[in-house]
Amino acid sequence: MNQIVIPSDAEYKALGEYLAHSNMRRILVVCGKSCDRLRIGQNLDDLTARIGSEFVRFSDFAPNPDYSSVVKGIDVFRTEGCDSILAIGGGSAMDTAKCIKLYATMPPGSDYIHEKIVPNAIPFVAVPTTAGTGSEATRYAVVYYNGEKQSVTDYSCIPSAVLFDPTVLDSLPEYHRKSTMMDAFCHAVESSWSVNSTDESREYSRTAIRLILENRESYLNNEPSGNRRMLEAANIAGKAINITQTTAGHAMCYKLTGLYKIAHGHAAALCVAALWPYMLSHRDDCADVRGVDHLSGVFADLAECMGAQTPEAAAAKFKSIVDGLGLGIPSVRGDAEYVLLKKSVNPVRLKNNPVRLDGDAIDTLYHQILGE
Ligand SMILES: [Fe+2]
Repeated sequence: MNQIVIPSDAEYKALGEYLAHSNMRRILVVCGKSCDRLRIGQNLDDLTARIGSEFVRFSDFAPNPDYSSVVKGIDVFRTEGCDSILAIGGGSAMDTAKCIKLYATMPPGSDYIHEKIVPNAIPFVAVPTTAGTGSEATRYAVVYYNGEKQSVTDYSCIPSAVLFDPTVLDSLPEYHRKSTMMDAFCHAVESSWSVNSTDESREYSRTAIRLILENRESYLNNEPSGNRRMLEAANIAGKAINITQTTAGHAMCYKLTGLYKIAHGHAAALCVAALWPYMLSHRDDCADVRGVDHLSGVFADLAECMGAQTPEAAAAKFKSIVDGLGLGIPSVRGDAEYVLLKKSVNPVRLKNNPVRLDGDAIDTLYHQILGE
């Protein structure tokens, strides 16, 4: 994975140079409809005037993009004679752009999602507009096919360059600002204890956690330096989960977002806040082949990153950060919801968790998460 970070400047000079240098002449811009309100959206015509590259916009996709949107995007890419892709947006724009990139060289009319992915060299640049998913740093994309969530994975969908522009966060609503930060925070924490962690991934996790803790106040206050650093932190946390994937916190959070219509990062934060102390007191159920001593070392390392004296204090600090954001706890409307929640947890994701969690443990955790 070779990522080039293009520093932001008012005229997007560095971006223009990168596009020209990469021979990106007719660029499919995969972006949300609000892209024109962003500084970068307003500068695309300027870029055309300066470097000659042309931009073809594609915004015909919804949140949680479905396969038919990707097919439309591929059609636009082909009929407009595009040679490269620029994704501007959050998770949905990134997912759509990644799938277009992976499928664009498959035979036209194929059932792309079932075709074998052959890496291609279509230049692909990403401009993340939230500091959360880190999707611009991962090999994963999600697309809905016949209503079913499908994970599409290939290293060649990782963008070759990422532009960090802190102004994209200027108008981010407060709830979204908080929840996306917590998504990145959970990525870094979960990656650090994942059974798939490596020296490299743990270094990414440490860096991301420190950046988040050091910059969260200025980011929450919408200061340019905080915004810039949080974009970087989310990207680095994305690099960590690109290696390890997420763990039980994410496995448990998806149904919370669906049932209670809360943001993904909000749900993940509630889950990790309950999961962390639970794991500390159940580490004898260690599922990491490196053993319980390794796991204890990971928890000690996390404590140091969190600036806490003990692993327990680190978990408590995380929870106090979540509580301090005032994101709220959903209200359960009957026991049947606990049954739904318990059933929803993907066992494959749980396998990444370093402490074994059976059905009873999941049930206990959901009761803690939801305040009962
Ligand atoms: Fe996430």
